[in-house]
Amino acid sequence: MNESELLRRALDAAKRAYSPYSHFCVGAALETREGAVYTGCNIENASYPATICAERTAFSAAVAAGAREFEAIAIVGGREEDILSGAVSGECPPCGICRQVMAEFCDENFRVILGSPDDFSVYTLGQLLPHGFSKNSM
Ligand code: THU
Repeated sequence: MNESELLRRALDAAKRAYSPYSHFCVGAALETREGAVYTGCNIENASYPATICAERTAFSAAVAAGAREFEAIAIVGGREEDILSGAVSGECPPCGICRQVMAEFCDENFRVILGSPDDFSVYTLGQLLPHGFSKNSM
């Protein structure tokens, strides 16, 4: 799937965010090596640390469905009113915990696509989490 299409899937997922506390909506679309796509959104909780990010929701859905090999993830985030009206501006970089979860399943060439469907950048996990700790470190 091309980058723009994967970002559109991420935007659709962001519209399903449950974020009554921050009113910040994030969506992620994770593509497997076989071309399947799993999506996720952030799911907040009244106990704030129990919140799960969109990226980890997508990885959880994919792994629970049996997927283990991944090609790329597209991430879209923004204020609720912007996301619900389809307006994406700027990049929503993954947090450190999500980068660490990516590193559990993906190598340094895994692609992280940030931005909007018509204005995006592509990073590698190696760029976003240099010299990270992983199973190869144990
Ligand atoms: N959030 C994500 O979903 N992914 C990230 O990588 C960063 C932050 C969510 C968590 C919380 O619901 C909201 O954005 C504000 O932090």
